[in-house]
Amino acid sequence: MKTTKISLHPEYTIAAVDQRLFGGFLEHLGRAIYQGIYQPDSIHVDKNGFRKDVLQALKALRFTTMRYPGGNFASGYHWLDGVGPKEKRPVINDLAWCSVEPNQFGTDEFIKLCRLMDWQPMLACNLGTGTPEEARNWVEYCNLPTGTRYSSLRNENNPGNPYNVKLWCLGNEMDGPWQLGHVPARDYALRAQQAAKMMRDADPSIELTASGSCTVDLPTYLEWDREVLDYMGDYADYISLHRYATNKDGNIPEFLASIKGIDRQIEEMDAVCRFIQARKRSQKRAYLSFDEWNVWYRTTGPEFTNGRGQFAAHLLEEEFDLSDALVVAGFLNSFFRHTDCVKMASLAQVVNAIAPILTRGDDLLLQTTYYPLLMIADRREGTALQAKVSGPGYASKIYGQVDYVDASAIINGNKLNVFLINRNMSDENPVSIYFNGLICEVESAEVLTGSQADSQNTFSNPNAIRNKSLTSVTVKEGMAELVLPPLSYTVATFEIDY
Ligand code: AHR
Repeated sequence: MKTTKISLHPEYTIAAVDQRLFGGFLEHLGRAIYQGIYQPDSIHVDKNGFRKDVLQALKALRFTTMRYPGGNFASGYHWLDGVGPKEKRPVINDLAWCSVEPNQFGTDEFIKLCRLMDWQPMLACNLGTGTPEEARNWVEYCNLPTGTRYSSLRNENNPGNPYNVKLWCLGNEMDGPWQLGHVPARDYALRAQQAAKMMRDADPSIELTASGSCTVDLPTYLEWDREVLDYMGDYADYISLHRYATNKDGNIPEFLASIKGIDRQIEEMDAVCRFIQARKRSQKRAYLSFDEWNVWYRTTGPEFTNGRGQFAAHLLEEEFDLSDALVVAGFLNSFFRHTDCVKMASLAQVVNAIAPILTRGDDLLLQTTYYPLLMIADRREGTALQAKVSGPGYASKIYGQVDYVDASAIINGNKLNVFLINRNMSDENPVSIYFNGLICEVESAEVLTGSQADSQNTFSNPNAIRNKSLTSVTVKEGMAELVLPPLSYTVATFEIDY
């Protein structure tokens, strides 16, 4: 196989990597909260009712923000149901997932969890069945000092400092006809603007994300965003985008090529933000919050999404394989390539529902998709660099010509981190990395690979796919060389003379 050349230069930067790109998402959905995060009858329980084994596995991934309480669930959620003495909280029918919601975990428990895990909370308010005023009152509950109805209620429930929640989503996937309270763009924009005004009046320091196009497949794609941003003006600090990569046809090369589609989606959404900024002659541009992203295609039918009136049903419990892990790595590469416009992102989700971590009773499994997140956890600070890839590739039906190697890079002081995916199904791919002759030595390198694209970790064989150290990286005359195994994700950290 011909060598792929990755050309980098310290001056060809993109932008500083906003650490809020490494957020997660926790929804009241299936067993994400109950039996995932929160399980008072587990042998792993801590004094708050949280599962220590789950928290420990999440801690290693160093999530920076956590989005809550949904998702679709948010569009029917009334936050007051989830605060106050637990025995007085109502048991309700959750209309999004047709499940029973006992409200034993709510805002106060979530904030406790965030403080414990060092996560910045991101709350999605209900602009489906809820009112702008209800959203505003939630800001008062969370952020205002005591002395008014909801701030005092917080202090009664949980005496101490306000929660200081800075990140708020103005609804969830409001462009989707499946969403509770879905309306056309104009109607949503009116609702979101009203909520934003009142929320900002309550706390001017909050940052607001308008609900943008949740898939490229809806006919309203981009037009929705144009209309919403146009109406909302400076009230929208960010606009959201969502993507769940799919491989329904079982076509691995096409699935891996879809990483190009992530780039395209980001660039199209950013184009709308720039268009609105230019047309308004505004100093301010809305940035992108990719507040739901993942691979998800096996558990999408009603048997996996309808809770049938049960509590903690097994919903969306996707079991991932190696190819899924490579696409997760592709999302990360794409975020690094677009640090100039993508400022926040949330992996959807973190436990049990489409998640890198699965629980079964008291056992816990780290899925294949856990590992790309782990491999970047200590390599993601710094400034992203443009990575020019020249090498062999293949023709994809939907995405055109695609390089076998998908690459991104981050410079951080005298360290250079390089992230490489080899999409080749059968062959190794030799790579040389040029960085203006400045690479001195290899600090560390790790690889994630396996014998088959569909190899999985299971409860009986939990370590089939996991990161291993890669020792064959060499540095000569300021340039690095390595060989990428077929279907693999490699991360390498180099010391540079800089
Ligand atoms: O993450 C699962 C669901 O996917 C979310 O609730 C919704 O926003 C999206 O459609």
